Amino acid sequence: MLRVRVWRGGADGALQAFEVPRYPSQTVLDVVTHIQRKLDPTLAYRYACRVGMCGSCAMTVNGVPRWTCRTHVDKVVQKNQLTIGPLRNLPVIRDLVADMRTFFDKWERAKGHFDGASTKADDFARVPPDSPERKTIDAGVECIGCGVCYAACDVVSWNPDYLGPAALNRAWTLVQDVRDGKTIERLQAVAGDAGCHACHTHTSCTERCPKHISPTAGIAGLKRAVAKATFEGKL
Ligand code: SF4
Ligand code: SF4
Ligand code: FES
Repeated sequence: MLRVRVWRGGADGALQAFEVPRYPSQTVLDVVTHIQRKLDPTLAYRYACRVGMCGSCAMTVNGVPRWTCRTHVDKVVQKNQLTIGPLRNLPVIRDLVADMRTFFDKWERAKGHFDGASTKADDFARVPPDSPERKTIDAGVECIGCGVCYAACDVVSWNPDYLGPAALNRAWTLVQDVRDGKTIERLQAVAGDAGCHACHTHTSCTERCPKHISPTAGIAGLKRAVAKATFEGKL
């Protein structure tokens, strides 16, 4: 039997112990699902796809943020024990469910939505697949907003106002998008004390991202873009 401790309640909650049968190729999400279906139906947790597409199953497993559906127990178990909690750096709604609103509010603050400069009268934009901008976008555009990098970032813990790796990575992909018309406004949005300059380049976000995105590289790109725009008198 696997010994599992699971966070129960809100911010002032506590760990509750369970015993769960082990079997080959078992994932951490399988463990949580076993507890909810067989041992305690009041356990709150979140998942949807079970195949690494939606990002909603992200939790803290033995101190590390991970997608639980893509994490095998064999890979993370320590002395036959697992400790599972909600994602760090976010308020807890209940048990394993973190409140993602702050995370997505920061995407808005970083102007993380496309704002096209063309009208219906214009021809289609042609972006060569091998252009440097398009390749940079390719490196960051597959983010699915799971919050793993955000939970891994110590700067978010120290400075809850910090926009964080995912929102800044999103801003960077849009700054590189030649069809977007709000580059200066977006650079203004990420240039403040809580923006790209707050990043300490610890790379925890990059090490943990299950999509192999490097928010650290994107944030470095934003720092360069902000410096260039400032030098040119555009900010
Ligand atoms: S950058 Fe990676 S870890 Fe961060 S939210 Fe996007 S997919 Fe998740
Ligand atoms: S590189 Fe920057 S955003 Fe990523 S974890 Fe470190 S401080 Fe946070
Ligand atoms: S349930 Fe969708 S990524 Fe894990």
